[in-house]
Amino acid sequence: MLQARIIGTGACLPEKVVTNHDLEKIVDTSDKWVTERTGIKERRLATSEEAASDFSYKAARHALKAAGVKARDLDLILVGTVTPDSPFPSTGCVLQSMLGAKNAVGFDVSATCSGFLYTLSLADAYVRSGRYKKILVVGTDILSKFVDWEDRNTCVLFGDGAGAVVIEPTTKQKGIIDVVIGSDGRLGDMLYIPGGGSRIPASKESIRDGQHFIKMNGNEVFKVAVKTMERVSREILKKNNIDPGEVSIMVPHQANIRIIQAVAKRLKMPMENVVVNLDKYGNTSAATIPIALDEAVREGRIRDGDLILMAAFGGGLTWASALIRW
Ligand code: UT7
Repeated sequence: MLQARIIGTGACLPEKVVTNHDLEKIVDTSDKWVTERTGIKERRLATSEEAASDFSYKAARHALKAAGVKARDLDLILVGTVTPDSPFPSTGCVLQSMLGAKNAVGFDVSATCSGFLYTLSLADAYVRSGRYKKILVVGTDILSKFVDWEDRNTCVLFGDGAGAVVIEPTTKQKGIIDVVIGSDGRLGDMLYIPGGGSRIPASKESIRDGQHFIKMNGNEVFKVAVKTMERVSREILKKNNIDPGEVSIMVPHQANIRIIQAVAKRLKMPMENVVVNLDKYGNTSAATIPIALDEAVREGRIRDGDLILMAAFGGGLTWASALIRW
């Protein structure tokens, strides 16, 4: 039976580092508050010239190099993002052109912070069905361009970046075991951007009213995030007859250290088996999981045969989990 396997990972973060102390100069916040409430110490932010495809391109190049795959051999490019360079063309198409992946088809998937795992689920299904073989999966978001830099409730949380993986079929008992995705559109207004689409198109008024900025009920999101990430982790483990104790390493969405600790505690997962890098990058939305995966792989934290659990949660609401035998 065909299974999909990750054969290379890559990531790219902006060079510009913005610390909590830097933010103290622009909003009424403190390093102490942000560190204690979120675990974030600094984040990387895109410059005014940089956009999602720039980071995606570099992350993709690293992943292709690690996989030993040429861009022209790709047959599919999937990009999980809610912050494309522009409404269209898709970042998948922009990336196809930048990479010179002329034999591929590219498109985007909109699932906020769950975007990488949603695209991974598509890649997995395409490989299993035999339709596509060499697939580039990217998670990227540049939320710094969508936060109100005068709103301390949101601006301290997010960072920019991209992560990528290359996937191919295998007949070995290794690779993606399962990906579970879910959504509940009734809870969309917990975390959303009201303007800039066809409902409230960009206008002088929409800009004046800040409709193009992220709106979030942080408290509610926090509670639902913990419950949902635990639930979707348990669901995928149960579905595949795997005990939480068998998981070698967890790569969770990086939104808040307190969310990650609460989920780990509920799953009885020791924190030393959980990948955490939000102190350096903040919440990079769809990019958190592939960036954390790439770091863990390059640091040698993930070894042959390890069982990896991934779990994400985001606006939509959306959630997802994945189980991978490395
Ligand atoms: O990928 C999913 C994306 N979203 C999330 O992950 C968000 C999930 N939620 C959270 O991470 C947390 O709810 C926050 C970090 C956003 C907030 O932490 P909290 O412990 O839930 O704080 P709170 O919202 O209950 O606010 C406590 C106080 C408030 O002041 P008052 O009303 O008690 O006087 C806030 O105004 O902290 C204040 N506050 C801040 N103070 C200093 C909120 N943001 C800041 C800030 N600096 N940046």
